[in-house]
Amino acid sequence: MKSVDKAARLFVCVAQKDEIGRDVAKALKQELKNQGLKTRLLDGERCKVRVQTCNCLDLCKQCKKGSGAAVIVYPEGVSYGNVRPRDAAEIVHEHLGEGRVVKRLQLD
Ligand code: FES
Repeated sequence: MKSVDKAARLFVCVAQKDEIGRDVAKALKQELKNQGLKTRLLDGERCKVRVQTCNCLDLCKQCKKGSGAAVIVYPEGVSYGNVRPRDAAEIVHEHLGEGRVVKRLQLD
């Protein structure tokens, strides 16, 4: 059986009317590159960080209430709401770089 490569994954909803999620995903990828965080340590192992667009994450209020998108970061399973492209630098730096949840965007 083929093994699945271990990776951190950011799933970005693109089911909004204006598909802002696509711009959010693009900004997250750019920030991973800018901040040198295309890999991170997971359980002592260096793993890739992947940004993946996806359909509805069932957090729709977060995609409808403002001009942002819902994002879930794994393996932590932390959900963020109303994320805009300008929030990408903070999520990458704080969450992936420093290991701190970005409280102002976190969903309960
Ligand atoms: S439309 Fe984005 S989570 Fe449902």
